Amino acid sequence: MEAASTRPRGRTVAAWDLPTRLFKWAFVLAVANAWLMQWLGDAWIRYHVWNGYAVLVLIVFRLIWGFVGSSTSRFTSWVRWPWTALGYGYAIVRGRGRPYLGHNPLGSWMIIALLLIVGSQAVAGLFTVDSNGLVGGPFANLDFGDPTPVQSALSRYHHGAFRLILIFATVHIAVNLFYQFVKHDPVVAAMIVGRKPVEPFADEAGMHAPPHLAWRAIASLAAAIVLVLGTIKVFGGTLA
Ligand code: HEM
Repeated sequence: MEAASTRPRGRTVAAWDLPTRLFKWAFVLAVANAWLMQWLGDAWIRYHVWNGYAVLVLIVFRLIWGFVGSSTSRFTSWVRWPWTALGYGYAIVRGRGRPYLGHNPLGSWMIIALLLIVGSQAVAGLFTVDSNGLVGGPFANLDFGDPTPVQSALSRYHHGAFRLILIFATVHIAVNLFYQFVKHDPVVAAMIVGRKPVEPFADEAGMHAPPHLAWRAIASLAAAIVLVLGTIKVFGGTLA
């Protein structure tokens, strides 16, 4: 990559705060575990359902963190117009894409897509009935006869949408490995250790953390748990 030559050797700068990194890898584990728990069969569906609540809590946490977290995690720093993403894609093709400290404009759209697809999959799961009709999400209506058309549609979506997650996650992983190992832009390492080598970044020179980061993260997680489980309870769902 052309910018690599401008990289001062050995100097690194903060890129991702710990809560964002914990969220990211917990999210990966939760998506993988959701698949595993349904694959293991009916005896494990209860854990699949609780795993679904965890996925929702993580997404709501990330939504809150997009407003109160460090600079690179805030939506204002990485949600960009589609034409900005197209412009960045064009620049990359011409070998002129500038490095970003946070999500680059194309990557940010992949992240929005992943959050939306996984989120809608988890929400649909709340209404889903298992294939044998015996277990389901908190709004599966198991005790009240046939599911409504909306429940049936959400159930079908939930059973089919994992393929979408697989496609998007595969592209996401392939692109990040390409950046890490072919373009020598250590994005994967940065999502693990939180730092990147100093470069003339297009977005910001270094991450700014807000005061009381840990307490903000704990409060955001607590709020996410209350919001997800509370909303299910308020709407009459039974937590399995
Ligand atoms: C089911 C699989 C996966 C899902 C659903 C997923 C989802 C996400 C999400 C939501 C983010 C945004 C993080 C944030 O801003 O809070 C993200 C970022 C990122 N993920 Fe993944 N991820 C998956 C697998 C992986 C794997 C296996 C790798 C490593 C090869 C990876 C590497 C990254 C990197 C490097 C970023 C930051 C990208 C950037 O700088 O723009 N992801 N991922």
